[in-house]
Amino acid sequence: MNHPQYAHPNPERVFPMFYYGCDYYPEHRPESFWEEDARRMQEAGFNVVRIGEFAWARIEPTEGRYDWGWLDRAIETLYRYGMRVVLGTPTAAPPPWLVAAHPEILPVDMYRRVRHAGSRRHYCPNSPTYQEYTRRIVTALAERYGADERVIGWQIDNEFGCHDTGRCYCDVCAARFREWLRERYGTPEALNEAWGTVFWSAVYRSWDEIPLPWAAPAEHNPAHLLDFLRFGTDSFRRYQQLQIDILRERAPGQFITHNYMPFPSRELDFYDLAAPLDFVSWDNYHFYGATPALVAATHDLYWGMKARNYWVMEQQVSQVNWAPYNPVFRPGEVGLKVWQAVAHGADGILYFAWRSTTRGAEIYHSGLLDYDNRPTRGYEEARQIGQALPRLAPYLEGSTPPAEVAILHDYASRWSLDIQPHNRDLADDETFRRALMGPYEALWARNVPVHILRAAPETDLSAYKLVILPALNLVGPELARRLGDYVQGGGTLIATARTGFKDESGRVPGQPPGYLAELLGVKVAEFDSLPPDRRNSVRFVYGPIGSVPVSLWMEVLQPTGARPLAVYEGDFYAGKPAATVLAQGRGRALYVGVLAGAEFYGPLLDWLLPQLGIHSPLATPEGVEAKVRVGPRGRVLFLLNHNDRPARVFLPTPATDVVTGERWAGERELGAREVRVLLIATGPQ
Ligand code: GAL
Ligand code: ZN
Repeated sequence: MNHPQYAHPNPERVFPMFYYGCDYYPEHRPESFWEEDARRMQEAGFNVVRIGEFAWARIEPTEGRYDWGWLDRAIETLYRYGMRVVLGTPTAAPPPWLVAAHPEILPVDMYRRVRHAGSRRHYCPNSPTYQEYTRRIVTALAERYGADERVIGWQIDNEFGCHDTGRCYCDVCAARFREWLRERYGTPEALNEAWGTVFWSAVYRSWDEIPLPWAAPAEHNPAHLLDFLRFGTDSFRRYQQLQIDILRERAPGQFITHNYMPFPSRELDFYDLAAPLDFVSWDNYHFYGATPALVAATHDLYWGMKARNYWVMEQQVSQVNWAPYNPVFRPGEVGLKVWQAVAHGADGILYFAWRSTTRGAEIYHSGLLDYDNRPTRGYEEARQIGQALPRLAPYLEGSTPPAEVAILHDYASRWSLDIQPHNRDLADDETFRRALMGPYEALWARNVPVHILRAAPETDLSAYKLVILPALNLVGPELARRLGDYVQGGGTLIATARTGFKDESGRVPGQPPGYLAELLGVKVAEFDSLPPDRRNSVRFVYGPIGSVPVSLWMEVLQPTGARPLAVYEGDFYAGKPAATVLAQGRGRALYVGVLAGAEFYGPLLDWLLPQLGIHSPLATPEGVEAKVRVGPRGRVLFLLNHNDRPARVFLPTPATDVVTGERWAGERELGAREVRVLLIATGPQ
């Protein structure tokens, strides 16, 4: 990580390279509680606290008048008990005095209605007024705390894009969008060509004629929508940069991060926003229905955001307040989620929140303390983890989760599928979720580690034996060429249905998979989008064995060099290829024309992985995850029983339990939701 390791007031509590703590709102509580709060945080083993990200109204109660007293005292109290502070810049919640004086900062929706104040995220990132006030508050904070050794870093704003705020449709944004298009295309003619505006007679003569995609009678041009989404990202990227420039200058020794949202968030292209940060963080909430594999994939996604370890800035403690159903965490679940995060590369974990709030919108949200300030079950579990961490931290230092399989991911491809899902049941990111989770779940069940990386020509794939493209809808010639080089050089590529359908501008380059057709040796003759009750199945005809059901999306493939790997079993295209494989150069390219689940990818991987020399670190029973972090002091193996019942695990090489010091070898039982963290000097790869 890119920031200095500070000396600590309580040296015995230092976890080298590991930060553990909570999100705290001292402004919600009378000061008389703070000391006791800090003491209990210390007792839980915490060494870091995030504060301030929603405290603008308390820091600057009226324009230009700052009240630092309370914040100074909060930081000091925490520090006395061994806690360093991550300060949030408070720009996600502009205070009422600012909105009253400058209502023009409010964002506008696609119906051109103002989105009003009273909750949060009520600002337009392009508003010059809001940018000016942002500059002032961030400068004031940075001047006060930028050289303060009690503050280790900054979180900019809070969850960019949350509550559907990734795009604003105000007049300022309209003007900015036109400038942005002019920079991108140079002339209206070039834009007309790229967008294909001749369709439905939308040929623009000048920039001023180009609307934002305001609510319209029928569908907007998908290329127009795609660029508007890119512009949204660029707006927030610039807005964030404004804050970063101030902090880099005035707080040079402190890190800068941002807290991203759980899967399936895709409001903005988070790769672009992550680029100038020291490391990314994300908020690990488990919306109802999230599986352990989906959470694992989200960890891998955020690890891959900068191909380095990350933090969990908000770790759910028990129930949330915002899901359709809000089950409490079962005993052991805090440990399960925390250790899973650490296993996947988290170097910092902060719980949300310290205490269940008794005021405001999140009254129903869980905290480590209850409404009566009593420690909850969650606190007790957090405290136990806090006792284990100092023993583990030296082994985590400098360690990362290795992988030989990469999945390439691209926000614009997901947007493109959102814009034209072409099947009701595949709307709302469902195509991507299926395309990702089919192979991911099969890999996860085999404990084969994965990195999820940006699908960009500059991404280095040389370390990976297998690369998967899950519904990578937009593939331009340059990326196609790089993937071709990867396969020629000995890599194995699996592209799934809907990959390469369009280029980066959203044009169809030819029969899919477009620019990848030659590499994959196959063309999609027809794509069949079916209602859920009309199913089919496919049967492997080469390599793996078995027949598996498929639904919703079926591509009838026409090999142009590849050989059939699987064929359809029903309907008029029975016997026609559903998946193909082709040896290319020193490598191999596979195309899978269905949105298949793990039933399909399981047998496929059991056939393919041994040929590629990819081994699982450990075979475990269903629902038991084994994940390894490797560092200078050896390997740490995390065994996570996600089941509500015990499971037996066989460990071929001896290991030492970090927490208990016990030796482990042979067969052992893991209790329901139990986790073991083991040190292995040598052994499983
Ligand atoms: C996050 C947000 C927090 C809090 C939390 C509740 O999205 O960053 O401020 O609202 O959700 O689960
Ligand atoms: Zn705007």
